[in-house]
Amino acid sequence: MAGLTWLPVLASSLLMMVSLFHSSQAAGVAVYWGQNGDEGSLADTCASGNYQFVNLAFLTTFGGGNTPVLNLAGHCNPGAGTCTSLSVEINDCQNQNIKVLLSLGGAVGNQSLTSADDARQVATYLWNNFLGGQSRSRPLGHAVLDGIDFAIESGTGLYWDNLARALSGFSSQKKVYLSAAPQCPFPDADLSTAISTGLFDYVWIQFYNNGQCQYSTNADNLIAAWNQWTSVHSNQIFLGVPAAPAAADGGYIPPDAVISQVLPSIKSSHKYAGVMIWNKYFDSGYSSAIKGCCFQPFDCSRLWLSFIFCWPFTCSHPWLSFITCRPS
Ligand SMILES: *[C@@H]1O[C@H](CO)[C@@H](O)[C@H](O)[C@H]1NC(C)=O
Repeated sequence: MAGLTWLPVLASSLLMMVSLFHSSQAAGVAVYWGQNGDEGSLADTCASGNYQFVNLAFLTTFGGGNTPVLNLAGHCNPGAGTCTSLSVEINDCQNQNIKVLLSLGGAVGNQSLTSADDARQVATYLWNNFLGGQSRSRPLGHAVLDGIDFAIESGTGLYWDNLARALSGFSSQKKVYLSAAPQCPFPDADLSTAISTGLFDYVWIQFYNNGQCQYSTNADNLIAAWNQWTSVHSNQIFLGVPAAPAAADGGYIPPDAVISQVLPSIKSSHKYAGVMIWNKYFDSGYSSAIKGCCFQPFDCSRLWLSFIFCWPFTCSHPWLSFITCRPS
């Protein structure tokens, strides 16, 4: 009997190690929501079970003394205050372990930071109006978003590092996750300085709209670019893809090609963390088709009890030097 008393202790510490692994290494699928009123509600998006991150797109204007403008297409009217009803849905998403971020960017509007001080003011605005701070005019109501996504594709490329540092400074009060959506030519013209701060938790790279680094009939250019991106100063990088041919100007990868031609190559890099999908409106079947595709590889050779750390996925070739966790 005495010999059995340590079993529960061993079992619970193993479970704890497993859950630590899953929370720190879990791969995921990110999606952009908010650019088409006909794409389904935020609640439905999260309830699909297909995503672990939702980027609310976009805060189209901020900085440079301009009045910030939130644009969520036909979903709601920020000027009339009707987007505050999203608070309940945001909280529902978060209760399903989905991170909800506000994405800065978009083709319209004006995203310009004019100085380091301007960047700090924008950070304070974001903290007070969308994150853990307080303001009487929070566009999305009381819900506290998980972080801020930088989807900047225009302007001078200046002061985004200042904005990242200022936002990150608020993490001492409540963690502010930072993500960036650079285009695939490496390094990104607008965001490389910001990403170099090392403050970005997630980098979802847009492998579309860029002929030289996107998928065309084969994945060669994409994989060559991916191998450059693995040097970036962030531990979690994602393959960004259009959800349908019409979602982007080139770069669409059919789901079976992602699974057979692209993921096997990029999943072997330790920084691979999942897939980003542009965008929810075009995602009629894409995220469902790749569901289960995206688990991060894990070098079990470092750990004696390798098979346990892949649970509930199977560790292929358990006793070889490099082992990949796969959906069973
Ligand atoms: C964007 O805002 C900046 C700063 O206020 C201003 O200098 C610039 O002209 C604006 N750009 C556009 C296209 O409106």
